[in-house]
Amino acid sequence: MTLKLPKIIGHRGVAAYAPENTLESIHSAADMGVEWVELDVKITKDQIAILFHDDTLERTTSASGNIAELTLAEIKELDAGSWFGESFIGAEIPTLEEAIDVLLERDLGVNIEIKPCSGREKETAEVALDVLSQIWDTREKLLLSSFQHVSLEAALDMAPDFHRGFLMPAEWPENWAELAQYLQVSAFNINGNECTKNQVGQLMDQEKPILAYTINDPDRARILQGWGVDGFFSDAPDAISEGLLMVH
Ligand code: G3P
Ligand code: MG
Repeated sequence: MTLKLPKIIGHRGVAAYAPENTLESIHSAADMGVEWVELDVKITKDQIAILFHDDTLERTTSASGNIAELTLAEIKELDAGSWFGESFIGAEIPTLEEAIDVLLERDLGVNIEIKPCSGREKETAEVALDVLSQIWDTREKLLLSSFQHVSLEAALDMAPDFHRGFLMPAEWPENWAELAQYLQVSAFNINGNECTKNQVGQLMDQEKPILAYTINDPDRARILQGWGVDGFFSDAPDAISEGLLMVH
């Protein structure tokens, strides 16, 4: 089943309009008419998959310390909304399962970025895939990705029929083409602010969708589209949609 990617994927939900990686952010994306969202997944100390980006709590919660040291019960006590704005006070860090319920209810596609804390690369992928395999049916509306090749390898082993995206940092690994082939990826997710026209050209030879993160500037989006980029992760999808050619 081929991937059905939209032109714009809401980043961490829609991070410009609601606290990132919360159910509120997923709902905001759906309310805006966004078709897919990207979400970051980690695991708790007691091995439950949750949505969270950073290794530490300071930036996006009311607490401090390392997220990997907390159980789900402890994490559920945290406020993940007040840092963003008063109207989001009390927003929780959701489990992946809670997030999937909202994605299904709102008929959204999703890019699950496996974002393990250090040393938990394999188990984070395994726990996330365990949840996804049980409740996610539509292969064409799910893309797994990770900067960690071990996580993508675990995904390939455990659920080869789920699509994988090769998430490339600004500095590309020298053997990226071999790695992408080994991991049997369906898409390339690149740093759209750092990449060059030449790099996009190299990827076009691979004949797979190219997605660029994280693009909030409509001018940059247009330039990347001209180079051959197919889709964009954006905190503010409405800000970049104008001027993009929206034909698939
Ligand atoms: O998956 C695209 C993008 O989210 C990767 O970077 O740090 O925002 O998770 P980051
Ligand atoms: Mg991410």
